[in-house]
Amino acid sequence: MSRILVTGATGNAARHLPAKLLDSGHAVRVLAHIRPADGIDPRAETVVGDLTDAGSIGDALADVDEVFLLTADDGAAAFAKAAAARTGLRRVVLLSSKAVVNNEFDGFDNPIYRKHILAERRIAELAVPTTMLRPGGLASNALRWAPTIRAHNRVQALFPELAAPLLDPEDLAAVAAVVFDSSVDAHRGKTYTLTGPEIVTVAEQVRILAEVLGRSIEFVQLTEDEAREILSRTQPPEFVRNYIPVQRRYLTITPTVHDTVTTLLGRPARSFREWVHANATRFN
Ligand SMILES: NC(=O)c1ccc[n+]([C@@H]2O[C@H](COP(=O)([O-])OP(=O)(O)OC[C@H]3O[C@@H](n4cnc5c(N)ncnc54)[C@H](OP(=O)(O)O)[C@@H]3O)[C@@H](O)[C@H]2O)c1
Repeated sequence: MSRILVTGATGNAARHLPAKLLDSGHAVRVLAHIRPADGIDPRAETVVGDLTDAGSIGDALADVDEVFLLTADDGAAAFAKAAAARTGLRRVVLLSSKAVVNNEFDGFDNPIYRKHILAERRIAELAVPTTMLRPGGLASNALRWAPTIRAHNRVQALFPELAAPLLDPEDLAAVAAVVFDSSVDAHRGKTYTLTGPEIVTVAEQVRILAEVLGRSIEFVQLTEDEAREILSRTQPPEFVRNYIPVQRRYLTITPTVHDTVTTLLGRPARSFREWVHANATRFN
């Protein structure tokens, strides 16, 4: 059993991982921005730190065998610096993104793609065995609609026909747990592209949400100006500038379903509908 540092565990992608690792008998240290971290399994040790600060990562890495690494905005630069100064690290599992293989996005100066590409490079250069996880869009992204569903039974989006094989974050955590439960060599140097089992459009997601939540939900199509204005409340200008061209490009691509989750877990990946059932209270 290992001592594993889990990063990003207050977020959607990694929130299920600490409990799974603890259930398998690993010791877990969570690196969180602030203490006490909401919703962190009480069996985990929590340390405060920032993934863009090599000093705090160095402290968090003390006595750690393995790391589940979220890609921070610096493209893992601080982590790479801290890890290079450490000996005895047995494995890094990097939470990357399927976006890095979307070479159809060449020419888009998108900070999200860039940080993942840089992180993959930096982690691959470390003298530590690595496994890369490349999820596509997560089912939990639908939580961005929770405030308007709660307040007005409404979803606002730009392109109702936008389609993706959304991945349940529980499946992402289950895959990461399988990797950590296996020998380093079993997944050393592997890259796993992870998707859900079926392609769902935005309009279908809204229909499924309405059915499962048992309420009628109105879909409101945003204009491009409205979408930019809403995004700019939370996202940096560089992201806002690129968002609509990238979404338009996605509209021209037929998304691919990958069977990696089924192969690694020995069961089908969970559907968007199953995710909504499990998370219905988060929309109330
Ligand atoms: N959502 C998707 O569809 C998707 C798809 C593919 C890849 N990904 C990648 O998966 C990762 C997580 O996505 P998510 O949907 O889980 O996002 P999220 O819900 O916003 O969670 C982000 C998590 O990262 C932590 N974090 C961010 N910057 C940090 C820093 N500098 N130091 C320490 N902790 C930091 C946050 O902690 P605080 O809450 O304390 O700030 C939070 O726990 C991202 O790298 C994203 O690019 C996401």
